[in-house]
Amino acid sequence: MAEETSKVAMEKIVSLCKRRGFIFPSSEIYGGLSSCWDYGPVGVELKRNIKDNWWRAVVQERDDVVGIESSILMNPQVWVASGHVDSFTDPLVECKVCHLRWRATELNSNKCPECSGELTEPRLFNLMFKTFMGPVEEESSVTYLRPETAQGMFVNFDNVLGASRRKLPFGIAQIGKAFRNEITPGNFVFRTREFEQMEIEYFVKPGTDDYWLDYWVKERFNWYINLGIRKENLRLRQHGKDERAHYAEDCYDVEYLFPMGWAELEGIANRGDFDLVQHAKHSGKSLIYFDEETGERFVPYIIEPSAGVDRSALAFLIDAYDEEMAEGELRTVLHLHPALAPIKVAVLPLSRNEKLVPLAKQIYTHLRRSFMTQYDDAQSIGRRYRRQDEIGTPFCVTIDFESLEDNQVTIRERDSMAQIRVPISELDKILQAKLKGEAFDTQPLWAVRQK
Ligand code: GAP
Repeated sequence: MAEETSKVAMEKIVSLCKRRGFIFPSSEIYGGLSSCWDYGPVGVELKRNIKDNWWRAVVQERDDVVGIESSILMNPQVWVASGHVDSFTDPLVECKVCHLRWRATELNSNKCPECSGELTEPRLFNLMFKTFMGPVEEESSVTYLRPETAQGMFVNFDNVLGASRRKLPFGIAQIGKAFRNEITPGNFVFRTREFEQMEIEYFVKPGTDDYWLDYWVKERFNWYINLGIRKENLRLRQHGKDERAHYAEDCYDVEYLFPMGWAELEGIANRGDFDLVQHAKHSGKSLIYFDEETGERFVPYIIEPSAGVDRSALAFLIDAYDEEMAEGELRTVLHLHPALAPIKVAVLPLSRNEKLVPLAKQIYTHLRRSFMTQYDDAQSIGRRYRRQDEIGTPFCVTIDFESLEDNQVTIRERDSMAQIRVPISELDKILQAKLKGEAFDTQPLWAVRQK
């Protein structure tokens, strides 16, 4: 049976991202840098919306999780204790002729795929980026760019517990950059060497860990569904014993059907007491929790939902992408959930007429206090609608000559392309309601597609 893949080709997403300003190749005028990408004007908004929605769901709307922001550079002992210095490795082989390196597990023969040269025996290659602290490049000043944000939360367990006066179960959340010297990066922003993670470390009493693992798997799976990912493109997969990370007692992946097939979007692991035991051992600081209610002392277990911002952005873009015939033309549209859409409202005067423009500008100035709003008066109205469709703007507000007479404007909805006339005085309120999905005259696709 053929491998399952998403219906959208990655090239279409890459091309749209470049054309409309979501994602550009890094340092492109110098020929780019392998696997590094820059987020453009609408890409950065999409990414911020993903992070804001995650933070809202896991910190703002919960009593039991608090956020932190730890530094990227940490004491190198952290990475010894965590097991990354010894175990964060991939077996690599090198071609004796062209010196290209390959992941041993991904080769079908013992010849170089590039030049058919002879390959060396596999050697373990550490995926952490190494650097030096201070002016002297010597072994004692070696440090690493963090390969996950998680360790910053483990080493702050006691600080956060004390400062926020929490009781178990409680969690710490963090969003931040991580770096891995991946051997085979690729598939656009799916696997890169610099990326952003959204991680929660949820500390629980041993014995309740299975319950909380189950709880977080469901929470995190539903987060994607609630933000519009189609159920048929999302699945859960439990790791086999042989594929678990060195710290994991159990692990589930939330997988998305990418153009290259099903692949991990987020991992939810039961890390047991591995991390706190290791850090206590290596730092000499006790990380034992005292339960005031029962008088028990124990090392908490950790449940870790760990998601990638860039990978999520890619999944949301792919899932939202659609091409359809509209009014005799092919229209490309991103059916992004309004909470994720980079621009919520576009203000479009019918023409650059000297009477229309001041009213349109006035409306624009007013609306942008509440929403990310774009003003566009270049080219035909049809072209402008298409441009907004391509970046997923849920609503366009059109100001025409009748607006000057009746103080009304037209709201055009992205998915149904339905248009309604509303009083300018009500516009802000109506758009607020529509963006929340309330009181729709025509049901938009993102509101019905999960049913
Ligand atoms: N603290 C656990 C941890 O880091 P992981 O499965 O290695 O677990 C978690 O990474 C998430 O981070 C992945 O599900 C993915 O979304 C993202 N991620 C990991 N490596 C990545 C890479 N090279 N490029 C982009 N995203 C990556």
